[in-house]
Amino acid sequence: MSAQQPPLALLAELSHRCPLQCPYCSNPVDLVRRGLELGTGDWLGVVEQAAAMGILQIHYSGGEPTVRDDLERIVAHAEESGLYGNLITSGVLADRERLQRLADAGLQHVQLSVQAAEEGNADRIGGFAGGHEKKIRFAGWVREVGLPLTLNAVVHRQNMQDLPALIDLARQLGATRLEVAHVQYYGWALRNRAALMPTREQLSWATDVVEDARERLHGTLVIDYVVPDYYARRPKACMGGWGRRFLTVAPDGQVLPCHAAQSIAGLSFENVRDRPLDAIWRNSEAFERYRGVDWMPEPCRGCDRREIDWGGCRCQAFALLGDAGLTDPACEYSPFHERMRALAEDDTAGETPPFDYRRIRVRGAPPAGRPVSLRSRGS
Ligand code: SF4
Ligand code: FES
Repeated sequence: MSAQQPPLALLAELSHRCPLQCPYCSNPVDLVRRGLELGTGDWLGVVEQAAAMGILQIHYSGGEPTVRDDLERIVAHAEESGLYGNLITSGVLADRERLQRLADAGLQHVQLSVQAAEEGNADRIGGFAGGHEKKIRFAGWVREVGLPLTLNAVVHRQNMQDLPALIDLARQLGATRLEVAHVQYYGWALRNRAALMPTREQLSWATDVVEDARERLHGTLVIDYVVPDYYARRPKACMGGWGRRFLTVAPDGQVLPCHAAQSIAGLSFENVRDRPLDAIWRNSEAFERYRGVDWMPEPCRGCDRREIDWGGCRCQAFALLGDAGLTDPACEYSPFHERMRALAEDDTAGETPPFDYRRIRVRGAPPAGRPVSLRSRGS
């Protein structure tokens, strides 16, 4: 099959470098080192190709995109090319002048991550002393330079209690949108699952808090809510379907159907250094492998939801089953669904282990994010 429509958005992972070390990061465990990153000219070319394909949005991400001092040039080129530019940032590196330059270059929106509402816990989770205070200051600058602000809060067992305060914080900072996302377990997050997994009680409390806030703050603050798969009955339509709406360019130029796709062993990705973006999108092996419905096994193949959730998440099927071509076990029709729930219960039953913070992996350390053999585990 060839892709009929262009993707809606490009996630430009400009660098894996990041001053924070969040243990739930979805970046691959083998982070791209600085020397392998695409150069300025490469990224300007990617922007041009994306615009020519009909892509509408570019999300500058990482790692931390502001580590690159050519960000202003890339932003300006994207704006000249007609792309809507959104910066996804930790907010701890750029000062007000830099933010003003980015706004002047045509940046249109900022998404700022927060690790918790309480400073001590936030800095502990991010592994960066003083980070929370800098974020609060940065949020003020975003509003001063006239950009709309979304707050991104990844929630888990060690910050869930802050949820009402996080909602208040979003309002105090003048955010128009708050994204409350339960951790999705790939990459570093999978390695830290036992430290992060919420209990079922925490989850249902958090869902009530969000529903109440949505009602109370209707018209003031939009709250997006991403639920944790381990307690779900049906999977999410991850990425809106593999190779359907989004593409990611990794710091070294590899083109990915999803930001976590490199966690799937055996899938090889093409590089913008070697082939045009459009050709990779339309017919590269990695994009074609799980696009549409032809690849689906039962129970997805005969299911009337197959073009609604697209069989769930390929990265999760690989992480838990060792085969990205199986139904996401978050689905209640998967034969492995109950075992996935049992994993969550195991994770929350024992003592909470310390975080294994995100960092450049030390040679010889065991790879994180490897499949945990749910298939061979007793139910
Ligand atoms: Fe979705 Fe497949 Fe489950 Fe049907 S069987 S609900 S298509 S994941
Ligand atoms: Fe990769 Fe879901 S995170 S397909």
